[in-house]
Amino acid sequence: MDQLSKTSLNYYLSEYLADLKRAGVQEIWRGDGVKKAGPAPAPQRRSVPVSRRESAQAPVATAPNPPASSPVSAQTSATAKQDGDERVVRLQTIAAEVAKCERCPELVANRTQTVFGVGNPYSELVFIGEGPGAEEDLRGEPFVGRSGKLLTDMIEKGMGLSRSDVFICNVVRCRPPGNRNPAESEARACRPFLDATLDVVRPKFICCLGSVAATNLLAVNETMGRLRGNVYEYKGAQVVCTYHPAYLLRNPAAKKDAWQDLQLLMKLMGLEIPSQRKSR
Ligand code: URA
Repeated sequence: MDQLSKTSLNYYLSEYLADLKRAGVQEIWRGDGVKKAGPAPAPQRRSVPVSRRESAQAPVATAPNPPASSPVSAQTSATAKQDGDERVVRLQTIAAEVAKCERCPELVANRTQTVFGVGNPYSELVFIGEGPGAEEDLRGEPFVGRSGKLLTDMIEKGMGLSRSDVFICNVVRCRPPGNRNPAESEARACRPFLDATLDVVRPKFICCLGSVAATNLLAVNETMGRLRGNVYEYKGAQVVCTYHPAYLLRNPAAKKDAWQDLQLLMKLMGLEIPSQRKSR
């Protein structure tokens, strides 16, 4: 972690806590770089705070992806019918569009299937990664490989939440061959699907995993070292950025920085962090 981001994080946290104490004003950095002042969010103290609806009632029925020939899988349509759940149906509709998408010839030629998103459509928290890897391409679900295991640990062991209670998706919905970064044109082509998904889930919090997710979502050209430790705003959600789990697997020393980022996210969400949990 460079000194600048350390200072930035510490500064932000101390400012944020002071603001909360004063019940004053929180600073939010907008994606367009405009600093926006707004009221501090009321801390939410709930044991399972990320879901606006119990996940048992609103299962995420959007992965694995329906095959192109049948836009909605039997299992997901049954769930949607049973629940009469508007968000599930809307997500299925987007997933069906995604499955038919042929905007990026190289990705279409190499994909096994599209990889839409997974999780609770009523979650307050959405994680956004880069794009599916080999395993995700085979299974049709984001973050199911080694990076996915680490992400699940970050969510469950780190944040004390359940993976099934957040929503997880990517900047692009097809695997870039050889695990290369998605091209700018590919990210742009897939953006309407990301935005449509966010419009359905309407999260209060977004966590960008890695600089590809962060720079694309926020339309900024910055390194993760500079992005992390700040809070941005996108479509009404507070956005924090942290290292991609694949980066953390290659650079375990950065896990402590990622943990700081998750703690920032937890503070925004009104979640207890583990040291506070223990001291009770
Ligand atoms: N890496 C990502 O960015 N997304 C996935 O779904 C898997 C690995």
